[in-house]
This record gives sequence, C-alpha cells and structure tokens, in this order.
Amino acid sequence: MDRLPRHIAIIMDGNGRWAKKRGLPRTAGHAVGAETFRRIATYCKDLGVEYLSVYAFSTENWRRPKDEVDTIMGILETYLKEAIGIIQRDRIRMRFFGDTSVLSPVLRELIAETERISDTCDGVQVNLCVNYGSRSEILRAAELWAQDREAGDTEELTEEKFGSYLYSAGIPDPDLIIRPSGEYRLSNFLMWQAAYSELYFTDVLWPDFDERELDRAIIEYQRRDRRYGAVR
Ligand code: FPP
Repeated sequence: MDRLPRHIAIIMDGNGRWAKKRGLPRTAGHAVGAETFRRIATYCKDLGVEYLSVYAFSTENWRRPKDEVDTIMGILETYLKEAIGIIQRDRIRMRFFGDTSVLSPVLRELIAETERISDTCDGVQVNLCVNYGSRSEILRAAELWAQDREAGDTEELTEEKFGSYLYSAGIPDPDLIIRPSGEYRLSNFLMWQAAYSELYFTDVLWPDFDERELDRAIIEYQRRDRRYGAVR
C-alpha cells in the first residue's frame, strides 16, 4: 500500500466487442462500461489513489454512428446527474479534460455544476476526458502560451511551464496507464503526460474489468523499476 500509484489513467476500451459477443447492440456495452467506471472509481477512492483519469470520449469518436455518439452522451448526462450527489458525499473532485464547449447545453450545464461543487471537495480527483485528444490539447497549450507571449510574458518556456497550459495543469503525470481489451496503443491519450508512465495492457474487455483486475495492474506496476532515464 505504501507504493500505490498516485495517478492512474485508464482507456476504457472493449465495450463494443463485449456487447457483440453477447449479441447485444454496442450501446449496451457502453452502459455496462459506465457501471464499471463507477465501481473502479469507488475502488480507487477506497484504496487511496489520488487521481484517476479516464478516456470517456475522444476527439476521433465523433466518427462513430450518430446513435452510438448520442448514447454515450446520454450515458454521460445520466451519470453526471447522479454523480452530483455522490461527489458531495464522497468529496470527489471532478475535472473535465477536452473541448466541452461543443457538447449539448444540458451537458455543459451539468459539467459546470459538477465542477462548481467539486471546488469545495478535497478527496480523490477524477478527470473525465470528454472530446479529448492529446494532439489538440498540445496545440491548444501552444496557442495559449503564444497569447501570453504576445501580451508581454517573457518568461522562458520550460517543460514545467508548458505543462501549466495543458488540461492537466497542477496534476502529477499518470504513474500507471491501463488499457484493457488487448489493444496496445495510447490512441491520442495523455501523450505529453505519459512520458514516464508505466503502461499496463490486459485482454480483459472494459465491462469485465473489476477490482481484482485493478489489483493485478497495481501489483504489476509495483514490480516495475522506474528509472526515469537514469541508471540504478
Ligand atoms: C471504447 O470502447 C469506449 C468508448 C469509446 C466509450 C467509453 C464510454 C463509456 C464507458 C461511458 C461513459 C463514461 C462515463 C465515465 C460515465 P469501444 O466502443 O471502442 O469498444 P470496441 O473496441 O470493442 O469496439
């Protein structure tokens, strides 16, 4: 327990295949995937993990059929409506990474409300990545920095300073990134922040991922030798 990752990031992959295997529509996989997220977030809180980041919807996911996109947005809406109470009870800080300005007015309102309540909370921080992509996050950071530069900021641009323009400003980089479902990619997820993250892959599909699977990932993480480019 004394070598727990402070920050765990998860690519919640495999919902579609999970549903297909059962002869269900892909959207049913997302509904169960959201339930898995709830369980894992609670488990992280109970363990004492400080930050949990999850990829809920990427900048590329708009290419999916409209009914699937609508279903995911609907699941997010339902989740946030319920989450508002849970956040207050469990003192969870919820943050959103990504361009949420293009989401529906109802979702934007829920996001604003969730963030407002979160400001008073001091427990585990959950970062929901919605309409998020690393490349657009990095471009946005570059633009924000250029604006400050234009406005007279002459401070040297360091890695640390650049990080302060990312959605993840002020949050430690993920120690452990988990991707279930047998895919071995980052898929545009936290690429700047992942520079020294330990990566863990498993064939288990996200809706089947449970507390024991998270234990396995954490134990594997604890066996790794993190050298950050140095020798030991
Ligand atoms: C990837 O599986 C999953 C997604 C693109 C959506 C994830 C969304 C949720 C779990 C629901 C909303 C989230 C929260 C936090 C309430 P896939 O569809 O690519 O699966 P496949 O690779 O098997 O097709």
